[in-house]
Amino acid sequence: MTVDFRQIIRIAAGKHSRGIEFGASYAPILPKSDGYQTLVIDHADAETLRAKYRPHGVDVSRIEEVDAIDDGGELLALDPTGQGFDFIVASHVFEHLTDPIHFLQRCERALSPGGRIFLLVPDRRFTFDYLRPCSSLGQMLAAYFSGDTRHNAASMYDHYASNAMRGGVQVWTQGSTGDFAFAGTPSEGYRLATRPGSDYVDCHAWVFTPSSFRLIMADLRAIGLVGLGEERFYPSIGCEFFVELSSASANPVQDRLTLALAALAESATEDSGQPIAVPHYIRTAPSNQNAVDALAGQWVGAFPAELDLQAGAAHLHGDLRIQWLAEQLGDRLPGQHVLELGPLEGAHTATLLAAGARSVLAIEANRDAFLRCLITKEVLGLRDASFRLGDFMVFLEQDANDWPLIVASGVLYHMVDPLRTLELLAKRTDRLYLWTHVVDEAAMPVGDPRRAHLAAPERRNWLGRDVTLHPRPYGDVKSSTFCGGMDAVPRWMDKHDLLWALGQLGFNNVIVAHEAPDDQHGPALSILARRTRA
Ligand SMILES: C[S@@+](CC[C@H](N)C(=O)[O-])C[C@H]1O[C@@H](n2cnc3c(N)ncnc32)[C@H](O)[C@@H]1O
Repeated sequence: MTVDFRQIIRIAAGKHSRGIEFGASYAPILPKSDGYQTLVIDHADAETLRAKYRPHGVDVSRIEEVDAIDDGGELLALDPTGQGFDFIVASHVFEHLTDPIHFLQRCERALSPGGRIFLLVPDRRFTFDYLRPCSSLGQMLAAYFSGDTRHNAASMYDHYASNAMRGGVQVWTQGSTGDFAFAGTPSEGYRLATRPGSDYVDCHAWVFTPSSFRLIMADLRAIGLVGLGEERFYPSIGCEFFVELSSASANPVQDRLTLALAALAESATEDSGQPIAVPHYIRTAPSNQNAVDALAGQWVGAFPAELDLQAGAAHLHGDLRIQWLAEQLGDRLPGQHVLELGPLEGAHTATLLAAGARSVLAIEANRDAFLRCLITKEVLGLRDASFRLGDFMVFLEQDANDWPLIVASGVLYHMVDPLRTLELLAKRTDRLYLWTHVVDEAAMPVGDPRRAHLAAPERRNWLGRDVTLHPRPYGDVKSSTFCGGMDAVPRWMDKHDLLWALGQLGFNNVIVAHEAPDDQHGPALSILARRTRA
């Protein structure tokens, strides 16, 4: 799951406020048909837009009636109440404007007190703008002073001469590795820069990375040409970044030099970079959603539906696997202290506590996941949960407790040495719950496409027997919502080896449940392993 910028806008706008969406075209963020009170402004009427986009194979039925064709005039004149608009949304519009400063001024004058502007802007590092330098405020000022209503020769040349592709596509995301190529040519750039007539021809006139954009906005405010300040900013996800502006913003403006240097650094790398550390103030009443949004875009799981919070998509609260575990344990869970490995966002932690656990100590190594656990703890009021940041392998090596129950869900197949993990677990508990992927000859025979992710198997002599371990490199999949382990090549165990190993470790009562031979990543199962002492 990644942050959904459009969902953030929908939540912020809501259906009770009124606003404008510029250039919504076939991908409206706030469609009137969904109940949003949106005035649609575009460069052409709906019929013309449908005719324009039909050949592109997009869903033109999503194009809504256009309420006003943009003539560069006062936006406030389009507001029958005269009170101003609560929101103005422009997604992938700003970079096309002939005179962005004029646009910002018009928007600013049209906002109601407290009104917000939401911009989604392409990041040059992930689009066909890749081979162009970032635009400067100086260039924007030149367009402003000449009152451009058509793109000037410089913009036209740069766009049509330097259009780039990567791996054969025009837009890509972080981590893409395809080869770069020019799609534009000098002669095409020159032809368009010098074309006769005054018809509007579109182009990306303005090119940004997140920090180059922020620097321009900060300088515009410093000059006094635009009074808008940053309310919220999210660095790039996919090919775009998110900026929320308002006249009322009292957020401290970042130091220009920091922004300029960050823009240079961004231009020198393909990485989106970390969000620049800037004090960020939330100006709305405290709420659980604010807490969740503090790590917006990182959430893997959803919160319980009754809380009506926007986070991730996976349903892990009240997970049936944990409820099954609680049923199996009967009166052995209530009142007990539980150790949980890899809580991710604390959903299972909450479920264990709801099932009666006296306390849960949960060890999470991923720093961002740990912070999400802390937010979950606050949001759900989990007073009896304690989250610790660190490697549970190191913890298990050092720990001297006997745990009435250890829950290790979704972690064994992320281990480099799962046998060592099992040994340590067996030392610390008589009751172990595992949910894990395994290699299973019957469920995933040779030739099954899921085996393509496995490297050549390794044999390990363990307690006098050969055990097969299957290296399964993560490859290039790490993202902010990655929920695997810390080493590049974990090992998966064979199902029969795993069950045998548990027996060797003294677990004489082993139940298997939730077998999922067809899971997209590989066979998976729950195991409740108990050691009953005579
Ligand atoms: C696939 S998620 C499982 C989350 C949850 N337990 C579940 O079953 O839905 C694996 C979690 O284990 C964490 N993890 C992996 N290796 C770890 C380690 N050595 N120490 C602590 N946490 C680890 C990851 O950061 C991630 O949050």
